[in-house]
Amino acid sequence: MAKLLALLQYFFLILTITFSTAKSHSFSTESSREALGLMTTQEKITHLHFYMHDVFGGANATAIPVTKILDNNTFYGGMFVADDPLTLGPDRDSGPVGTGRGTYTFPSQNDFVLEMVYNLRFAHGGYNGSSLCLLGNISPASIVNEVAIAGGTGVFRFARGYAVAKRIVLDFKAQLVVRELNVYVSHY
Ligand SMILES: *[C@@H]1O[C@H](CO)[C@@H](O)[C@H](O)[C@H]1NC(C)=O
Ligand SMILES: *[C@@H]1O[C@H](CO)[C@@H](O)[C@H](O)[C@H]1NC(C)=O
Ligand SMILES: *[C@@H]1O[C@H](CO)[C@@H](O)[C@H](O)[C@H]1NC(C)=O
Repeated sequence: MAKLLALLQYFFLILTITFSTAKSHSFSTESSREALGLMTTQEKITHLHFYMHDVFGGANATAIPVTKILDNNTFYGGMFVADDPLTLGPDRDSGPVGTGRGTYTFPSQNDFVLEMVYNLRFAHGGYNGSSLCLLGNISPASIVNEVAIAGGTGVFRFARGYAVAKRIVLDFKAQLVVRELNVYVSHY
């Protein structure tokens, strides 16, 4: 009896090891929206409206240069690291909705173009902790620019969409740019 039990335990162990080994090494398995806890298969579109404050110099800079700018026309090679406040209204103290963090690089040898690789992390209501990934080129000389929303986390899992950024303040004295953002994002 004891022998049988030991034998059973032995086989069970082998099976368990084989099974768990196979499982931990599986690179790809089929999943589903249900398995991921997404209760609906219906995508919805959310419109977010907020303001982004970018201080590019001075004691309270939110975007700091990390490289030398080699070309004064295109800023080619320049890179800034940004940690910008996002607010409900155009005023800095209108109420926080989150932070925009990432890099601004100047990737063109011919044009004055800024590339954003940027994470919008929200800290507002039901969106607290959720984020959207913003990617795109903007022309700093243009008042309105459009960039892509390439993904998201939290309530924005599977997100995709776009953001229209409208520059409403350009203050060289305060070294401040304020942009109004209208984000349209499709998610579950
Ligand atoms: C930076 O922020 C501090 C605290 O809010 C403020 O007292 C100071 O005047 C600001 N400095 C500049 C250059 O804006
Ligand atoms: C860019 O402009 C600054 C300030 O006017 C000047 O000091 C610098 O030499 C210029 N850089 C180049 C590469 O022309
Ligand atoms: C967001 O969530 C964090 C972590 O759970 C919490 O500390 C914070 O108070 C929340 N903020 C808002 C505005 O709900």
